[in-house]
Amino acid sequence: MAGGRKISQLVFPRVVALITTCNREGKPNVAAFSFLMPLSFNPKYVAFSIDPSRYSYLNLQETGEFVVNIPTETMLSQVWICGSRSGRETDKFRLAGLTKLESVKVRPPRIEGCPVQLECRLEFDRKFGDHHLIVGKVLEEHVETLDFKPVTHYSGRTFLRVGGTVEA
Ligand SMILES: Cc1cc2nc3c(=O)[nH]c(=O)nc-3n(C[C@H](O)[C@H](O)[C@H](O)COP(=O)(O)O)c2cc1C
Repeated sequence: MAGGRKISQLVFPRVVALITTCNREGKPNVAAFSFLMPLSFNPKYVAFSIDPSRYSYLNLQETGEFVVNIPTETMLSQVWICGSRSGRETDKFRLAGLTKLESVKVRPPRIEGCPVQLECRLEFDRKFGDHHLIVGKVLEEHVETLDFKPVTHYSGRTFLRVGGTVEA
């Protein structure tokens, strides 16, 4: 029997990405996603799950392209804006003070200050319960540094800090 806790309170912490999309006219949007996972080494694939009521999902259906931008812990306030407001009613790039960088292979922009940016093409979209599983092939990767603290989500407004490393 399903318990009373959300799945996000059972599987955590999860790295947060700021995923950019755009509509047919090229208008970009950005939203926060923590139901995210790497899927394949070679070629590289990533997957995430999205509630189809998100404006971002409409964009994915229209253009089939997205960029996975991994923010740093210092970008938490921007992450919150991107995850609590919808692109339907607001320009979140402006609201959060995020700078767009032109992508190389896809139309949605990259986000300045995110040390990892993965340009992706949507290859799979299937409904599972109240979300859709989206799989994208990484067409181009940009890595500024890997020496940073990602934003890791627990649930709701609560995030968990990344500490040091331990060896197995
Ligand atoms: C930290 C964080 C993680 C989130 N993760 C997801 C997620 O994995 N899937 C999802 O559908 N929504 C997720 N959300 C909610 C969306 O980001 C939020 O509904 C956003 O307003 C959607 O924007 P849009 O309508 O412009 O697409 C998350 C929100 C936050 C704050």
